[in-house]
Amino acid sequence: MLICRRISEVRELVRTERGTGKIIGFVPTMGYLHQGHLQLMREAKKDCDMVVISIFVNPAQFGPGEDLERYPRDFERDHALAAEVDVDAIFYPSVEEMYPPGFNTNVDLNSLTGCLCGKSRPGHFRGVATVVTKLFNIVLPDRAYFGQKDAQQVLVIRRMAEDLNMPVEIVTVPTVREEDGLAMSSRNVYLTPEQRRSAAVLFESLKAAEKAVEQGERDAGTILQLVRDMISSVPEAGIDYVELRNISDLNPVEVIDCPVLLALAVRFGQTRLIDNTVLEV
Ligand code: PAF
Repeated sequence: MLICRRISEVRELVRTERGTGKIIGFVPTMGYLHQGHLQLMREAKKDCDMVVISIFVNPAQFGPGEDLERYPRDFERDHALAAEVDVDAIFYPSVEEMYPPGFNTNVDLNSLTGCLCGKSRPGHFRGVATVVTKLFNIVLPDRAYFGQKDAQQVLVIRRMAEDLNMPVEIVTVPTVREEDGLAMSSRNVYLTPEQRRSAAVLFESLKAAEKAVEQGERDAGTILQLVRDMISSVPEAGIDYVELRNISDLNPVEVIDCPVLLALAVRFGQTRLIDNTVLEV
C-alpha cells in the first residue's frame, strides 16, 4: 500500500492507474478508523479497481471550542486497518499541504446547511464542502463513499457534486453499529463506561420511533416527544437536537406521510454523538 503525503504524489499515482483503464474508488476519512470506515472501503473494493483513502483531520470543519486538538489520531493503527481491507493507497497530507499560506476559497451551500448539525456547528458544512471539493479535485475519483450515519453530510455532498458538475458518483453505505446498536464513530472512544452504556439509548429511541410509525403513528410531535423522553431518561444525556425532516430538502415535517429523516445529536459529557434513521410509511 502506498502512502502519499503530497498532493502531487497522489495525483501522479491516480493518473497512472487511470491511464490503464482502472476505476478509482475514494473513501475520505479523518482517520482513527473503525468498522464503519472499513465497510466503506470494502464497498469501494467491490466496485472499483483501485481504492484510495484519505486521512486528514480537517481543521476547517471544527468550530472554536470543538474537539480539533483532542480528536483521536493514530496513523500506525489506521495504516494496519486499511491494509486489512487491501486499500491501494492512503493520501495523508499535512494541514500545510491542504491549506497553504494564502488559502482563501470556500465552498458554501445556500441551503441544507443551516439546520440540524449545521445549526449547532456553524461553519461545519462549509469546512466539509471545501475539503471534500479539494479532495475530489486532487484524487479525481470515479466513485466516493460516505456513511449514512452522517445523513446531512451525504445530502450536502450529493447536492454540491451535482451543482458543481463534479464527475464523481456519490455512494452511500448503511451505518455500521456496535452490538447494542450504537453507531460506530471515532468519537465513541471519548465516552466513559457509564456514558457508553447510556449511549445505547440513541439506537433504542430510533427503533422505538420506527415501531410507533409501523403501528400507525403519523404525528411528528408525538414521535419527537417519544424519542426525547427516552433519551432524557438515561444518565448524562443532553439533547442537542431531535428532529424530523424531509429527506431531500431537510425542511421540517409535521406529519409523516412520506419517508422522513429522524435525526438526532446528543451530548454525553463533552462528547456529541449523532445518529438517524429514515422512517418509512
Ligand atoms: O465524514 C468525515 O469523516 C469528514 O467529514 C470528511 C468527509 C472526511 C471530510 O473531512
